[in-house]
Amino acid sequence: MRLNKYIASCGTASRRGADALVEAGKVKVNGCVVKNHGIEVDVSKDTVCVNGAALRPEQRMVYIMLNKPAGVLSTCRDDRGRKTVLDIVKNVDERLFPVGRLDFDTEGLLLLTNDGDFAYQCTHPKHEQSKTYYAEVNGDLTSAALSRLELGIVIDGRKTSKAKIKVINKLGNQTKLTIEIHEGRNRQVRKMFKAVGSHVCYLKRTAIGNLTVGDLALGQWRYLTEKDFSLLGIILFPKTDKK
Ligand code: URA
Repeated sequence: MRLNKYIASCGTASRRGADALVEAGKVKVNGCVVKNHGIEVDVSKDTVCVNGAALRPEQRMVYIMLNKPAGVLSTCRDDRGRKTVLDIVKNVDERLFPVGRLDFDTEGLLLLTNDGDFAYQCTHPKHEQSKTYYAEVNGDLTSAALSRLELGIVIDGRKTSKAKIKVINKLGNQTKLTIEIHEGRNRQVRKMFKAVGSHVCYLKRTAIGNLTVGDLALGQWRYLTEKDFSLLGIILFPKTDKK
């Protein structure tokens, strides 16, 4: 198995995270630092250590959806002691990590897992998993601005891919809308509206692909079901022992 895939399958990091660990010289195979994340390892014979700790394949794969409240970090821990999503998802023994990110102030659908392959399938651009957000936006949002946002707008020096916007209503200075995007760039929705002179004052992710947050209450979580996987269009490898 390729080294980055093996590290991901042990729940230590996503595949891209595994590549970064290798590049940082944090990974040893049979006692030697490796610099090539594409090398093959024989998991029955080779010992792979990350940051000095030997990896062992995870036995049970866990897949969770959370309706993240605002004021919670979508990281595993925080140096400043702020609340993280792992403070909400309790009584799960496996080492979970969030699949992608939502901002501190953003609510909504966040997936958590210990399966790096699953995270890879959800986040890699080649799988084109759409993300839908409900937003409340302040500022004069003209139809020209909406077209620019839908066609692609430059943020952080690069044009966004096409987006779909549905205006729900417009009252005075505030517009309620949904926006569907196909990338997961840092603070993407907020930056897109900022680029047309508006301000997102409320943001919630309502769906990833066809999987919606549904009636899951804010701050609640549950395990994904077979149906959820088909809504995501994700087929799991037989190795997984899904709950
Ligand atoms: N876009 C944002 O601006 N924030 C999020 O949390 C997600 C998408």
